[in-house]
Amino acid sequence: MVLLGAPGAGKGTQAKLLQEKFAAPQISTGDILRQAVADQTALGKQAADFIKRGALVPDDVIVGMIGERLKQSDCQHGFVLDGFPRTIPQAHSLDELLARLGCKLDCVLAVKVPQTEIVARLSGRRSCKNCGAPFHVSFDPPRAQGICDKCGGELIQREDDREATIKHRLEVYETQTAPLAEYYRTRGLLREIDGVGSIDQIRARIDSALGDLAA
Ligand code: AP5
Repeated sequence: MVLLGAPGAGKGTQAKLLQEKFAAPQISTGDILRQAVADQTALGKQAADFIKRGALVPDDVIVGMIGERLKQSDCQHGFVLDGFPRTIPQAHSLDELLARLGCKLDCVLAVKVPQTEIVARLSGRRSCKNCGAPFHVSFDPPRAQGICDKCGGELIQREDDREATIKHRLEVYETQTAPLAEYYRTRGLLREIDGVGSIDQIRARIDSALGDLAA
């Protein structure tokens, strides 16, 4: 399945819950890119400046990266795509990749959250430096300040969660990613989720939107 939504809509938070529920890996393009930047790989060097500015990394780079990831053995029984596709050309490439792998999307979950809430979520987000788990200083605080509940790693603020960069990321989302909802609606795959409420409430809405897939 694919999780669609603006920056800060809660895709990563819910994708991690779906990963547990379905025992299918969460594939977050943002996490893969940030790891590549931290490791200073060739991919990381290519992507670093785009991420810092809140711009999209070029489609060919992302599609190549996802193509490699989907071939790995843990994806054989399904996967949760978080942050991909993000442009119409990426969606076409995903269709081609899936056809080559002999599989298809079960559904596309679009999580909808108003911009004012998004700014509050992103400016208070803290992410684990080791495992990428997201927390929020007010809405989802860790048990011990600055320390990841899951792996004990250090919690940091992402560089692209500064106010000016958040604004740019939201503009990029509106122009380049929001049209994907229509792309998937016309293919009968889109399921829209009201993303305002507690993390548990959103999880329950997703379960109910998944219907028979969640059984
Ligand atoms: P990426 O890491 O994918 O960032 P994003 O899409 O901007 O999404 P976020 O990770 O910011 O938010 P989220 O929706 O996952 O929310 P979260 O669950 O963390 O991409 C980063 C960059 O990489 C891009 O800008 C681009 O440069 C590049 N990139 C990535 N993919 C690409 C692609 N396909 N093509 C080209 N470039 C690409 O939640 C946010 C906060 O809210 C957290 O603090 C969380 O605890 C809190 N929260 C979650 N749910 C709730 C709730 N229900 N109530 C209150 N708080 C909540």
